Amino acid sequence: MRTALIAGNWKMHLTEKQAVTLTRKLLWVQNQMPVRGVEVLLCPPFTALSQLHKLLVGSTIKLGAQNMSAEVEGAFTGEISPLMLAEFCSYVIVGHSERRAIFGETDALINRKVKNAITHSLIPILCVGETLAEKESGKAHQVVYAQMIEGLKEVPIFSANQLVVAYEPVWAIGTGWTATPQESNALIAATIRPALVRLFGEQVANGVSVLYGGSVKPDNARGFFQQPEIDGALVGGASLDADSFRGIIEAARNCS
Ligand code: PGA
Repeated sequence: MRTALIAGNWKMHLTEKQAVTLTRKLLWVQNQMPVRGVEVLLCPPFTALSQLHKLLVGSTIKLGAQNMSAEVEGAFTGEISPLMLAEFCSYVIVGHSERRAIFGETDALINRKVKNAITHSLIPILCVGETLAEKESGKAHQVVYAQMIEGLKEVPIFSANQLVVAYEPVWAIGTGWTATPQESNALIAATIRPALVRLFGEQVANGVSVLYGGSVKPDNARGFFQQPEIDGALVGGASLDADSFRGIIEAARNCS
């Protein structure tokens, strides 16, 4: 059985104060009507981590970061190390398509970040996905397979719960378009799962949770969660609203 995970990626939204308000709303609903069998994760901006960590003590909601340095410590102005994150977080998003496209992150850099996260007991959520041009030229499988193999090269995991993969077609992020649930399931089955098998062997590979990301909303979430290869979602826009995010969590509960 793989863990169902619903992760909210707040991107560069919300001040600390706004982050606290949103988290309080989510906590209130979770306490009134606990959702069991689904892990809920918030990935706020770095500036809110400390405050939210205090707020979430004793709750089942987990914290993650949106990015991390490939280094551990030293003269790296503006960077955040896994040692700093490990005080507050259990997860870290690595290789999001915005990091790849806007900040020029390569598979080699992403690979170093994944290793650095695992060494410091953070669970990396490795994001992979093709652009619209790659999809239209029939290269989606090739691109995603290469991102998997390069991003996870020589990564020392021995247990499936040390890693999460998020399949996020770049053309579906923040656009309101989604890949169909069946299409996404097929890509994961034909590309992501075989890459995991090649890297880590059948047993570990079959236990790694794979999320779908890209314009997930309460009204389309269920279709994704009904797919056998989709274990949850990485949610951007809809995670900034307590009711929408909660709607997605409930859709996962009903499918788990
Ligand atoms: P979106 O973002 O849900 O707003 O499309 C998803 C993501 O970037 O992880």
